[in-house]
Amino acid sequence: MGGLSSEGHLLSSTCKDGERRSVNNSSSAPTSEQVWAALRGVIDPELGDNVVDLGMISSVDVSKDGIVTIGLALTIAECPLRSQIEGDTRRRALSLPGVQDVLVHTTAMTKRQRADLMSRAREKAREHAEPTQVSPTTRVVAVSSGKGGVGKSSVSVNLAIAIKNLGFSVGLMDADIWGFSIPRLLGVTSRIEADDKTRLIIPAQAHGLKVVSTGLIIDSEETALMWRGLMLAKALEQFLKQVDWGDLDYLVIDMPPGTGDIQMALSRMLPQAEMVVVTTPQRASQKVAARIADMARRSHMPIVGVIENMSGFDCGHGTVHHLFGQGGGQDLADSIGTPLLSRVPFDIRVVEGGDCGQPVASQDPPTGAALAFAEMAALLVQLVPPAADETCTGRLAKLLEGLAQAGLDKEVVASAAPR
Ligand SMILES: Nc1ncnc2c1ncn2[C@@H]1O[C@H](COP(=O)(O)OP(=O)(O)OP(=O)(O)O)[C@@H](O)[C@H]1O
Ligand SMILES: [Mg+2]
Repeated sequence: MGGLSSEGHLLSSTCKDGERRSVNNSSSAPTSEQVWAALRGVIDPELGDNVVDLGMISSVDVSKDGIVTIGLALTIAECPLRSQIEGDTRRRALSLPGVQDVLVHTTAMTKRQRADLMSRAREKAREHAEPTQVSPTTRVVAVSSGKGGVGKSSVSVNLAIAIKNLGFSVGLMDADIWGFSIPRLLGVTSRIEADDKTRLIIPAQAHGLKVVSTGLIIDSEETALMWRGLMLAKALEQFLKQVDWGDLDYLVIDMPPGTGDIQMALSRMLPQAEMVVVTTPQRASQKVAARIADMARRSHMPIVGVIENMSGFDCGHGTVHHLFGQGGGQDLADSIGTPLLSRVPFDIRVVEGGDCGQPVASQDPPTGAALAFAEMAALLVQLVPPAADETCTGRLAKLLEGLAQAGLDKEVVASAAPR
């Protein structure tokens, strides 16, 4: 058992002698269709669908003497549910009359297979998603990391402002329920309250963003402690279902450190969510990469790309000091197969701006980290375009605008456009 871990390679060939059947010796072997049908009863608990519909069964072969050989493709070699899914697969097939033995050959999916599976899982989640106050056309970007303290909150705040600077309506949600830092970073001290009529919470307004955080509800650190157990599961749901977000182009979410419940709850409630991963330039350990791959798998959120934060420090005399090492962002991007979106330099103005509630991305004209955030935002809106741009009307409007700018009269162009 055990074996190679690279994509598409055999991980194991499992068959436990103790599980060989003896009761069905008299029945004839089932057809492979019957085995496929039985395997629909094997559910991947994290993806919430059966292994056949998820495309995880690559082959089924039944020999005349009742030996069933099943190809099982797992999303990643280190899949934590591997033994459970293998065991369920074997038992399901073994339960069919006429089956003498079951061999499960496990492989890891190729990148392409994995992308197909994730989009099937997302489709399914979308069908079952409960309604939230976040419009289905709002693009949701969850800022995550494989470990704490790498700058998720700083990136969330500055990225949100940089996207807003491009002319989009942007919301910023602090999903770090009890480690919240967004109010301080934005300098918000007001409290959020519900509208008397709609009973929906009105987000705070700061630096042109709509902002929601538990830090805007609770009053003291002690209250925060009390909320811990109570709130964690419910707060995210409230933020999505009971906040009047209005029409947003983008919702940026500052995720808590770790890879647990919040990620899963988010993808269940906002299936359109996509993830950007923040890391430091320190060479990524395989552990961090595996944790992120696992997080993406469990939440079936696509990863848009990696942001390397606290990259080289430019001392202003032409020398860049690599305080936290080099190459970590690219390493991580390569190992999870996504692009490196940006390298944000180590810039003391990120710290100062955070301390006084004036994020560096508000700087005009942008330099240093602010420039990196501006470029990151421009790239992100290309990779995750605003929904309106993807509709025919949106494209037509852009075309008309382009032609008008090129000197053509807007009305003439509009009258010539197809309706
Ligand atoms: N590019 C940067 N240059 C200089 N300092 C930075 C930069 N990015 C973040 N910092 C500083 O690093 C510290 C940690 O950043 P931040 O709180 O954003 O990390 P985090 O990943 O959200 O942490 P946590 O996991 O605790 O939520 C802060 O003091 C912040 O000001
Ligand atoms: Mg944080």
